[in-house]
Formats: sequence, structure tokens, C-alpha cells
Amino acid sequence: MGSHKIALLPGDGTGPEVLREGVKVLDAAASKFNIKLDYQEYDFGGERYKRTGETLPDSALEELKSCHAIFLGAIGHPDVKPGILEVGILLKARFALDQYINLRPVKLYPNVDTPLKDKGPAHVDFVVVRENTGGIYTGMGGAAMVGTPHEAATQVMLYTRPVVDRCLRYAYEYTKKRNRKNMLTLVHKCNVLTNVGDLWVRAHEEMGATEYPDIKRDYNHVDACTMWMVKTPEYYDVIVTANMFGDIITDLGAMIQGGMGIAAGGNINPEGVSMFEPIGGSAPKYTGKNVINPLAAICAGGMMLETLGEDAAGAAIDKAVHDALASGKITSLSAGRMGMGTSEVGDLVASLV
Ligand code: IPM
Ligand code: MN
Repeated sequence: MGSHKIALLPGDGTGPEVLREGVKVLDAAASKFNIKLDYQEYDFGGERYKRTGETLPDSALEELKSCHAIFLGAIGHPDVKPGILEVGILLKARFALDQYINLRPVKLYPNVDTPLKDKGPAHVDFVVVRENTGGIYTGMGGAAMVGTPHEAATQVMLYTRPVVDRCLRYAYEYTKKRNRKNMLTLVHKCNVLTNVGDLWVRAHEEMGATEYPDIKRDYNHVDACTMWMVKTPEYYDVIVTANMFGDIITDLGAMIQGGMGIAAGGNINPEGVSMFEPIGGSAPKYTGKNVINPLAAICAGGMMLETLGEDAAGAAIDKAVHDALASGKITSLSAGRMGMGTSEVGDLVASLV
């Protein structure tokens, strides 16, 4: 029997509501699969920042390091300047806990509307492995002559071979474990970014050829990738990509899988503490109304169990989400149009685990 200590960060807006349903479904899976989950709740977010000026203090980071995983609701508050909470909480946790993978399944469930014409669940089922702490997000660069007509600024796309390799390693292993098309597509822009792109291309080639000969190595330029994601999403199995490109294509992925109501993400340190979240944000205008869709949080909970090594329980949550949507009882993924409330969606999924 697995036993896991989970830090709960409900956060802002509708975060607490969706996280509550995520926990409900986690508990259903835990009891079915005989897993013990201990929760410890933290109040980081906009309200606490307004009260104390604190985002994610170092002492809290130390506590988070003693947990096995973090389950996050949403960060973002209408009264707090954009950037403060994102950088102070989300990015700080990613960097401090070295969550160097951002895992984003792009899966279209039954009865979910996609904006892609003539595409259904059989066509949209791939996973993006986004490098999550390097590249432009490293923050190297500077600004000079700010405020003058000659103002200059740089933000460097910094990658080292070890940082590229550890991301590729995760992606190859993930592709192997997933065992679908056994194809790993590197997405970059090596026709223009001839230094950093070339580093990724060679690392992908070398690791694949020497260590994963059974996985097909594939490459797309990022601009072309956005076209193919829309035109032939069924082409993809697993995509591995650099931080900034991944940030952009995973939002496109969220839209083709039915929107923010269903898009879940994991910030993963395969050797450490990972953090799972619905990627949709805090949706302040829906707060407290029992209308927000909790499915993304529920899916994030499933990913968390899988990453903790509870594969059967994680798969059971994914299947329960699938079955809940296949039942047709949830009429839309949009807030307020689900045909039932937030907590009723949680009840339905929990009953199907
Ligand atoms: C994401 C978000 C973050 C990012 C922001 C909020 C810092 O857009 O998780 O994709 O850019 O990585
Ligand atoms: Mn993003």
C-alpha cells in the first residue's frame, strides 16, 4: 500500500472549488486502490499576499520539499498586479523544486467539443513534454538605456547539454512507457536558431540512436507544428520541446482538447517533488458559484497519482473522467453550462472511479 503526503495549495478564485473536487476523486481512488493520502493545506495566493506581502516564503519551500507532491488549484487575483503571483509562486516553485518537466496531455474525451472540424477522440490524443525551467525562462539577459530612444533588451534562450538531455531522457522514457506510436517528435526552430536548435537536434538524435532505437525520432519546426496540430493532430504521439515553444503550443493543445475546463498539467521533477494543476487559472468571476468545471483539476490529480507510481489509480481516474463524459450527463465543459454544478461533476466522477 502506497502512502503519500500531498501539499494542497487551493490558491485564488475558483482554485479552492476545483481542488476540493480533485481531492474528492483522489480519495475515491485511494480507497479503491488501498492508497493512503495525507494532506497538508497551505494558503499561498493573492489573499495572503495582500495581507502579508508574502508569495511563497523560503520556509514554506522547505516544508514543500518534505511532501511527495503538490496539488495546486489556481493562482491569480484581480487586485494583484499580473506577474507577482505567477513569478512569486508558480515559477518560484518550479525553479526551487527543479521541476524541469512540464507534462501536458492533449486528449479529447467523448462528447467534448473541439474547434477542429471532423476530428474526434480518435484524432486528438498526444502528450507534450515541455522543458520547464530553462531556455528563455532562465532569465539571463538585461536591459540598457531604458526609457531612451535607443533602449535595448535581451532575454537569452539558454540551454546546456545536461538540461537538454534530462528533458529528452524523460520524454523518451515517457514515450516508451506510453507505448502507442512509439514516436518522439522534437519541436524546435533549428532552421533559424542554429545554435540552440542544433544542440537540441543533435542531443535528440544521439540519445535516440544509442539508447532508444525502437522509438521513432521525428522533428518539426515549431511554426509547422502549430499547423499540424490543427490539421492532423492524429499524427502526434509525444512531443518534446523547449520551454517557450512548449508554453505556446500547450495552450493551442488545450483549445483543441476542449478548452481550459479539461486541460491539466504537471510540473515534474522525476527525482523530487512535483506539482500538478488545472492550467485554466482562477476565473474570479465564477468564484463561489458552484459553476466552474473541476475536470481539469480531477485530471491533474490522476496525473499526480501516476507520477507517484500509482499507475492503476491514475488510470482509473482518467477512465472515470472518460466515462463521466461518455455518459452524456455533462452537457458542456464551459462554466455554468455543464448541466450540473461543480460538486456534482466531482460526485459523478468519484462514483465512476
Ligand atoms: C504556464 C503558464 C506560466 C508559464 C506562467 C503563468 C508563468 O503560462 O504554466 O504555461 O508561462 O509557464
Ligand atoms: Mn502557459
